[in-house]
Amino acid sequence: MVCAMKTTRLTFIGAGNMARSLIGGLVADGWDPACISVSDPDTEQLSALSSRFQVNTDTNNHTVTEDAEVVVLAVKPQVIRDVALDLADLIQKQQPLLISIAAGIRATDLQRWLGGSCALVRCMPNTAALVQSSATALWHNENVTEEQTDLAETILRAVGLALWVESEDLMDTVTALSGSGPAYFLLVMEALQEAGQVLGLPETTAKLLSLQTAFGAAKMALESSEDAAILRQRVTSPGGTTEKALEILENGGLRALFSDALNAARERSRELADQFGAE
Ligand SMILES: NC(=O)c1ccc[n+]([C@@H]2O[C@H](COP(=O)([O-])OP(=O)(O)OC[C@H]3O[C@@H](n4cnc5c(N)ncnc54)[C@H](OP(=O)(O)O)[C@@H]3O)[C@@H](O)[C@H]2O)c1
Repeated sequence: MVCAMKTTRLTFIGAGNMARSLIGGLVADGWDPACISVSDPDTEQLSALSSRFQVNTDTNNHTVTEDAEVVVLAVKPQVIRDVALDLADLIQKQQPLLISIAAGIRATDLQRWLGGSCALVRCMPNTAALVQSSATALWHNENVTEEQTDLAETILRAVGLALWVESEDLMDTVTALSGSGPAYFLLVMEALQEAGQVLGLPETTAKLLSLQTAFGAAKMALESSEDAAILRQRVTSPGGTTEKALEILENGGLRALFSDALNAARERSRELADQFGAE
């Protein structure tokens, strides 16, 4: 099964950051590069990809879609409508599995542009896909077979964790949590570094201590079967330094702030989906 998957004919429309990361991960996982095709208007992007990974490239979206079993739409949300309208006839004839990584593009809009129903997976990776450490959520419509869900999951796992959500609505929540999430943690790391510097640490020392602490906490939580809350309680001795600091963060409303932040991001995700899907 796994070997058959890795020779599935896979096409990427768009050869930007996300496509590059996915292709890098897939080839490293043993996907046959001869079975991967990529199209993009930028010939420099294409030749960089073909010399690095030996994948097939073309500037014509039709040429790479003609015999594809899976088509990954890896273009920006602003251009996906035109790409879908242009490929609609071919997609309806070929009926490949479509995987859209475009943030905020709803299945109904995509299928309308593609000229009818198709087997469609929407997914929301995050920028950590660039270092193969994405937290990606996926959702599939009713036309996707079990074999195709396995395929989609294998493809997205090439850049990190991949988890399914049951309803498409939840993709806006996912966008708010993990889609935008790397920036929240980067802000925390930035704030810790600044506070350390104010208290006298040299810039590089404060920066590295902050980053490695974030990495260590995430690694510890991922490798443990305990909830983050339990792990936190374990490292918070009564009357100690951590307790003092956490008291300030809790009393300052950190949890409410995150709740408001996620609500605002989810709302914005919905607005953008309405805007992109309007035509
Ligand atoms: N980067 C992230 O962290 C992230 C996270 C989650 C989701 N996503 C989603 O992933 C998708 C791709 O993002 P990205 O960061 O990889 O963008 P990107 O680096 O801009 O890549 C998109 C590529 O598509 C090409 N393109 C434009 N029009 C095209 C067309 N008609 N046919 C074929 N290719 C075309 C672009 O070429 P030109 O540059 O010449 O226009 C560019 O090389 C987006 O929809 C985004 O919402 C990205």
